[in-house]
Amino acid sequence: MTATLIDGKAFAVTVRGKVAEHVARLVADHGITPGLAVVLVGEDPASQVYVRSKGKQTVEVGMASFEHKLPADTSEADLLALVQRLNADPAVHGILVQLPLPKHLDESLVINAIDPAKDVDGFHISNVGLLATGQKSMVPCTPLGCLMLLRDHLGSLSGKDAVVIGRSNIVGKPMAQLLLGDSCTVTIAHSRTRDLADVVRQADIVIAAVGRPEMVPGDWIKPGATVIDVGINRIERDGKTVLVGDVDFASCAAVAGAITPVPGGVGPMTIACLLANTVTACCRANG
Ligand code: GUN
Repeated sequence: MTATLIDGKAFAVTVRGKVAEHVARLVADHGITPGLAVVLVGEDPASQVYVRSKGKQTVEVGMASFEHKLPADTSEADLLALVQRLNADPAVHGILVQLPLPKHLDESLVINAIDPAKDVDGFHISNVGLLATGQKSMVPCTPLGCLMLLRDHLGSLSGKDAVVIGRSNIVGKPMAQLLLGDSCTVTIAHSRTRDLADVVRQADIVIAAVGRPEMVPGDWIKPGATVIDVGINRIERDGKTVLVGDVDFASCAAVAGAITPVPGGVGPMTIACLLANTVTACCRANG
């Protein structure tokens, strides 16, 4: 391996430490405790793990955590009523509805019912529009975490060629907006992109966010490029369940200048950014 390892786990510890200091000041100086409400509908095992982690880390940085676990057959009306209650609750500064929702619920309708000022996921259509037009917004946590790692490792991103593989609303599209905001030349590649290998080979920065285990091999990577792996895929290998990313780590690390591992790369940054967004929402709500 020649690439430098980008240690997202360690960076997330630093971010959480700063969030905890900020929370302590808000409590001591203003008597305000930032609060995050997380809503989980149904029993998706991966979502349950994420929600538990979010609640635990929220409490660890001194914030209030409000968990709402609803049965899988919850009606849209009941879920919307809960969102309205949380919108109106002054103790709640951030609201996150864990996705995916069960099929009978309209995700866009639910997300757009959240008060944009409390939308710490940055998924509300108002926040999407604000980000796209370069205005102050809530920024989606995973792309924000990737940007922080890139800036920390590379300094200025200006003029760099970035390829984002994946066009999801949660990662691919907002990631492209953030890179554009930092003056990268940005290409969004996806399942229909022709000559994907050649497109990726042009990139100084590769963001892999497709959800396909080890899809990007080392011979797609320009020597010295920075590779950010957003994938979290559980696969069976040698009779064991292992976690792998969207890039083939061994072959990419042999060519890249720097690379994030899975686990311990982007994953821990997502929750750290969620906590940071909640403090931001709390500060904006309190002038
Ligand atoms: N499901 C997977 N990632 C996310 C996320 O960042 N936010 C929410 N709300 N749901 C998710």
